[in-house]
Amino acid sequence: MGVNELMGEIAGVGRDARRGGYSRHVYDYADFELRDWFIDQALDSGLDVNTDRNGNIWAWWGNPGSDAVVTGSHLDSVPGGGAYDGPLGVASALAAVEILQGKGFAPAKPLALLVFAEEEGGRFGVPCLGSRLLTGAIDADRARNLRDTDGVTLAEAAVKAGHDPKRFGADPESLAQIGCFVELHVEQGRGLIELDSPVATGSSIIAHGRYRFSFSGQGNHAGATRLADRHDPMLPAATVVAAARRAAAAMNDARATVGRLVPTPGGTNVIASTVDLWLDARVSGEGRTAVLVEDITEAARAAAEAEGCELTVTEESYSDDVVFDETLRSRMDKVLGGVPALPTGAGHDAGILAAHVPSGMLYVRNPTGISHAPEEYAEPADIDSGAQSLARVLEELAG
Ligand code: GLV
Ligand code: MN
Ligand code: MN
Repeated sequence: MGVNELMGEIAGVGRDARRGGYSRHVYDYADFELRDWFIDQALDSGLDVNTDRNGNIWAWWGNPGSDAVVTGSHLDSVPGGGAYDGPLGVASALAAVEILQGKGFAPAKPLALLVFAEEEGGRFGVPCLGSRLLTGAIDADRARNLRDTDGVTLAEAAVKAGHDPKRFGADPESLAQIGCFVELHVEQGRGLIELDSPVATGSSIIAHGRYRFSFSGQGNHAGATRLADRHDPMLPAATVVAAARRAAAAMNDARATVGRLVPTPGGTNVIASTVDLWLDARVSGEGRTAVLVEDITEAARAAAEAEGCELTVTEESYSDDVVFDETLRSRMDKVLGGVPALPTGAGHDAGILAAHVPSGMLYVRNPTGISHAPEEYAEPADIDSGAQSLARVLEELAG
């Protein structure tokens, strides 16, 4: 089945009628359906499928072994996300195998497809959970105890999904099988529109941190409480939203976003007792994310104090700048006949793996330039080019 047909098969899974787009979160029903779909497709292609200790799915062409050429991505989405972020890399991996099988290619090295259990952090907050667990970049206990918005822990969700969370954690045996890793992904910005190219390789990823700001004040009556008597945590929370934009604008090529803010109890006529918000901060260069977050935190502390509120700030995840392996990138570039190399502000499992094995990315043009939203798109012809490009890269690497 071609890559566009594969994408068509899952187009109805996990649609979010309220937000628009897709909400596919790790170990929810849509995720189960997508994981089963991937396994069925891989088995149909004659691959051997196994799930590792951390819930990542591997599909092997030939016997598992070291120095494998591995490609894949993720199936989960952000809330109300697009159709392509993640699944395009998985469908392209399946399609690339079919292209290579169709031309009678016999891999000299083991070749595997890898579906990471969770990339967006849409349910448990920490991005790239599957690859962080695999590589030991997150403590297994901390991961097991992460909670979703309903209070369900990752461990509980994993048990429901048939996994044994006691086995979560660094998996050096699985990691040692990977000789190199290539992730195909829809582009999440405007780079390929401007360069007028259907595909690119990835050169680097900007450092990225997520921070929880928890403000507590005094819940009270919106009509009966005089302004002077209030301790309203929404005021310092609003300061963070504005400070994030101001602080990022003051640094070269920085990004800071508040995309999620939760007042408790959350009533129109109720002064909130607490407000939690999550800051997503990204800026390249050692220590510069800390500088950016400190600037925002200072503004938050001053605003909290002025309103008589308390503030705690917790770093939930951090990833340093990633520079993808130049030898691998230039091999991909050569086999593709010279394509642009793009830096990105979006995080990927390939970025987590890059600290351990030569890793690279292939991007497919997104004509809207929009991602993490329903408008994310890729033209069928570009999607085909992407899968053909991935097949050529795998042929070169595993041949
Ligand atoms: C994932 O796409 C991220 O960069 O947040
Ligand atoms: Mn994403
Ligand atoms: Mn992604």
